[in-house]
Amino acid sequence: MISIAAPELREEEQRRVQEVLDSGMIADGPEVRTFEDEFASFCGTEHGVATSNGTTALHTALEALDIGEGDTVLTSPFSFVASANAIRLAGATPVFADIRSDTFNLDPDSVEKTVREQDVDAILAVHLYGLPADMDALQGIADEYEVPIIEDAAQAHGAEYNGERIGSIGEIACFSFYPTKNMTTGEGGMVTTDRKDLAEKAASFANHGRAQDGGYEHVRLGHNYRMTSIAAVIGQAQLDRLPEYVETRRANAALLNRGLEETDIVTPIEPERRKHAYHQYTIRTENRDKLIAHLDDHGVGTGVYYPTPIHQQAAYDHIDFHAPVSEQSSDEVLSLPVHPQLSTTDIESIIRAIAEYER
Ligand SMILES: Cc1ncc(COP(=O)(O)O)c(C=O)c1O
Repeated sequence: MISIAAPELREEEQRRVQEVLDSGMIADGPEVRTFEDEFASFCGTEHGVATSNGTTALHTALEALDIGEGDTVLTSPFSFVASANAIRLAGATPVFADIRSDTFNLDPDSVEKTVREQDVDAILAVHLYGLPADMDALQGIADEYEVPIIEDAAQAHGAEYNGERIGSIGEIACFSFYPTKNMTTGEGGMVTTDRKDLAEKAASFANHGRAQDGGYEHVRLGHNYRMTSIAAVIGQAQLDRLPEYVETRRANAALLNRGLEETDIVTPIEPERRKHAYHQYTIRTENRDKLIAHLDDHGVGTGVYYPTPIHQQAAYDHIDFHAPVSEQSSDEVLSLPVHPQLSTTDIESIIRAIAEYER
């Protein structure tokens, strides 16, 4: 079976983990600081603050911006539920705008309308599937209404917008290192920002509100959202290979695009000035269940991200909202394997299986 995701862990990770185990500094040791610096430098930001996962990174970023009770944060309903959950965990209220059908990211027109009609204190822009959101348009709205943009870059390590790495575009950004992502630390997350004040608050919040000089002085309420050194060294090894991973994902996506040209499958787009990191290669198809079954029969694993938009989840049934494009996308999207472990034969098999599919 060709799997939809395949994290690659090499001897390098094993060696580095063994070193950490031997050192005995297995929790929040110096390796975490090194990984923070290396990841921030990769993104082109001044600061990185490591966290226990992507959800805690989002919660931490919101807290760093002092977003909490009484505040409203606009985000995409077509995302993993964590994007909106983090807003609620911070005590704020999520509001949604619809997405564009071609990019699966927030539709600036819908965002503008929402921000005009109701008070919004921040915009949490998701770079879904590794494709950067329309940051120029969103930044224009954010500037006009004087609200910060938080990037949910959980799926977009190595993506670029206008030649700049994702993670450095908004006021603050958040990554996830879950095993299916473009790079992993097992569980893990990172907040990136150029702003020293936000980085300091984030680091403090993720460590029980500890004062900057450490010790047992606590200046704000916080959590234990710390990353372990074991995770950090896995992250360092993975980060070294991230550019190569992203290029392989892009090459695989290009082969899929070419191979599916003759079919009526709607393949992903890469708008100008955006570099897609292809965390997912997501097609659009009617009668999705039939295609999933057909591909399964031909040994091709697939994934549906996400079958239910956030505003239609039971945990959000208090929200009365309708987003036609997100809802239709939830019925039609299907992700095909694009990860760097695929062989050319695997990709040919995927293309052949789709070509043989009879609608
Ligand atoms: C868009 C998005 N946001 C947030 C998260 C949360 O990250 P984590 O699973 O590491 O908590 C994910 C991870 O799946 C995600 O895909």
